[in-house]
Amino acid sequence: MSARFRPRALAALAAPVLWLAAALALAAPGPGRNAIASAHPLATQAGLDVLAAGGNAVDAAVAVSAVLAVVEPASSGVGGGGFYLVHIAADGHDVFVDARESAPGKARRDMFLGPDGKPRSGASISGPLAAGIPGEPAAWAHLAARYGRLPLAQSLAAAIRIARDGFPLYARLQNAIRVKQAQLAASKDAAAVFLDHGQVPAVGAMIRQPDLARTLELIARSEAREFYRGRFAERLAAAVTRDGGLWSAEDLARYRVIEREPVRFRYRDATIVTSPPPSSGGLVLADAFGILAGYELGTLDSATRIHLEIEALRRAYRDRAEYLGDPDFVKIPVEQFLSPLYAAGQRTSIRLDRATPSDLLRPVYTGEESPSTTHFSVLDHDGNRVAATISINLFFGATYVAPGTGFLLNDTMDDFAVAAGTPNAFELVGADANSIAPGKRALSSMTPTFVETPKGLLIVGSPGGSTIISNVFGCVLHWLDGAGAAAIVAAPRLHHQYLPDAVMIEPGALTAEERAALEKRGHTFRTGRSSWGNTQVVTWDYATGRVEAASDPRGFGAGLVY
Ligand code: DON
Repeated sequence: MSARFRPRALAALAAPVLWLAAALALAAPGPGRNAIASAHPLATQAGLDVLAAGGNAVDAAVAVSAVLAVVEPASSGVGGGGFYLVHIAADGHDVFVDARESAPGKARRDMFLGPDGKPRSGASISGPLAAGIPGEPAAWAHLAARYGRLPLAQSLAAAIRIARDGFPLYARLQNAIRVKQAQLAASKDAAAVFLDHGQVPAVGAMIRQPDLARTLELIARSEAREFYRGRFAERLAAAVTRDGGLWSAEDLARYRVIEREPVRFRYRDATIVTSPPPSSGGLVLADAFGILAGYELGTLDSATRIHLEIEALRRAYRDRAEYLGDPDFVKIPVEQFLSPLYAAGQRTSIRLDRATPSDLLRPVYTGEESPSTTHFSVLDHDGNRVAATISINLFFGATYVAPGTGFLLNDTMDDFAVAAGTPNAFELVGADANSIAPGKRALSSMTPTFVETPKGLLIVGSPGGSTIISNVFGCVLHWLDGAGAAAIVAAPRLHHQYLPDAVMIEPGALTAEERAALEKRGHTFRTGRSSWGNTQVVTWDYATGRVEAASDPRGFGAGLVY
């Protein structure tokens, strides 16, 4: 949640004008413009090029993902997974493409515990044991075949070229390499690409990935089939097993992308279409917005408003910890998260003058989750749209590249609750619902989201581990208050996740008066967090026709409208 943006008076626009604008927008086929915001300028450009060549937003999403896999290898890639929220303008169809990694068949609930029953340090984040079965190649093939207009090979062409010819190392990636230098050095193939004789390369050094180019070619040529079956898949599974992982060729052959119904709810005049489990994002948003819906936020002073936002997040993140996991393995009380009556019940424990200590809420057991990941937002001139958050989990994932393959494996197994009672890198807590089981997908915070009102459209999402959901929550509130795309991504952020019981704030998120007023209510604050996400936003204003794309100033990305 970000707090600096102040509500702007949109009320100046008379209601009939808005109604007419909305009616015109609905009648219009699309914005007539293409817009993409992603975490790297080369990825944004590749997406726009695919659109210019006759592709739609889905083809662009494939091109953007594939280029990000090459130029932002610490964050997502062929060895990872993610979620694609897709809207097809022609029939208004929304679909959530779940390409989350799945646990291998030999995964066991206690696989990361030592003989003493305690988590083995680093086991779920480094090396091939930490890797789930990747979903990205399957996602690209599925998206292109079912919703795209171009052959997969055309959308992957830019990524293949950049992998082969190289791209200049930029400071943000160099920094990530520095953080993981020792782990990257331990994987011969990773070291060959990301280190220069064992050292961190200089900014501007060309990063060439010939093995990755060949793997991308194999995916392009076979529409991902040869990634999951046959010689390549057998060699990949054998390498992972030899180096300490648990994969089998059958795990790869069994992997499927799953189409799911998005979570959909209303908040005031907005319809929010967002991520269902195994993302926790959509239901946590529904829970938090359901609580806020009982207050007239516009009539409240800013400290009270922020207090209520924190209290809503506290309760929604608590519910996340208790109930959420892979819906194919655990029964999730979806109706409860969406119910106005449940929200009303949650509100009864909120006092306007006091923070609720988190340990007064019913306790839950703890689990795991961590940093890196990337998001992009695409709107094409016909109104098709994609919000995608994709990941290999922590920076450089498992920091392991199977020989000859050229891509890093994820460490998404760490997003499972590896043991009850053990908070993770993001101090998130989880319960039985998110324990490890063969074939299961770990609970995620990734929350690609669309928000639509009679006035316009917001496409939003971010990396940031546990802060993803509060970040999207804040972006939605800012957008509903009238903020433009650039203001939304720049606003300083504020976060509460139930446990630890502290409000995490970015510098500038609160005025001194707001902070004092919140402290008086009993809130405690934490500063100094370094990862606040990398939000990518596209907006479309129906009244003016204006389309904006903005990339988070905390990152290196680009938002372009063409
Ligand atoms: O799925 C999840 O929630 C995590 N694997 C996402 C990790 C992440 O966003 C790290 N970002 N800084």
